Amino acid sequence: MKVLAHISDLHFGTEVPEIIRELPSSLKEVGPDLLVISGDLTQRARAGQFRAARQFLDSLHFPKLIVPGNHDIPLFNVIRRFFKPLEHYQNIITRDLSPFYMDGKIAVLGLNTARSFTWKNGRISVEQMEHIRKKFCKLPKDTFKILVTHHPLIAPPGQSGKSVVGRAQRMFLLVEGCNPDLALAGHFHMSYSRGSHAVYMAQKRSTLVVQAGTATSNRIREEQNAFNVVRINGKQVELSVRMWNGREFADHRTERFVRDDDGKWEM
Ligand SMILES: [Fe+2]
Ligand SMILES: [Fe+2]
Repeated sequence: MKVLAHISDLHFGTEVPEIIRELPSSLKEVGPDLLVISGDLTQRARAGQFRAARQFLDSLHFPKLIVPGNHDIPLFNVIRRFFKPLEHYQNIITRDLSPFYMDGKIAVLGLNTARSFTWKNGRISVEQMEHIRKKFCKLPKDTFKILVTHHPLIAPPGQSGKSVVGRAQRMFLLVEGCNPDLALAGHFHMSYSRGSHAVYMAQKRSTLVVQAGTATSNRIREEQNAFNVVRINGKQVELSVRMWNGREFADHRTERFVRDDDGKWEM
């Protein structure tokens, strides 16, 4: 079994101090094989906010895979936004915008979906789709493939108007056959999950799409701060959402998914 802890939307600059103090011990309790951080590390992409995020991440002694989010690109500084959008992210957090982690059982690919032109909405480029194919299509069949982006591949249930990452449908078509088993994202500060075939109905083999809430920011929307714990065991995935109750992160909801014989993820 492989265990991932998935935190997202840290938004340093708006972080809740008690949560910053408590989250490391909650993560330590989980003891993940890999810690995934799915973007929006800062609130305004300032160097000081990235340095605070870096210091926090350095205190978490697990293998990590990190992608940027739209808030990691400056919004108001137009020069930096268009000419050096991820300068601070790359100088302070990591140069790598398509990180890849692999061990004997899982392969995890992160992609940068944040864009300067459509600041809020993300996009997957055609080159990135090719990159997914390059990384995933050659893997042994039983390697569990995980894609990490900031912007989700599907909208929250009942909110189809919410914009998902641009070209998600095209990506699924292009990588059909070696599409990810699991996709992790954040952005809406809301935890939700389902098989991608519920949205992209023509899909033969579905991706389990899982979003995390904001782990540490006071910019909570419809739900409290939260992070996800994902346990992967072959064709079974257990997702547990840990939610902040004012004192600690407690188990809020656990969902179990199984890939059925048709290749679809079902609860
Ligand atoms: Fe966010
Ligand atoms: Fe975001």
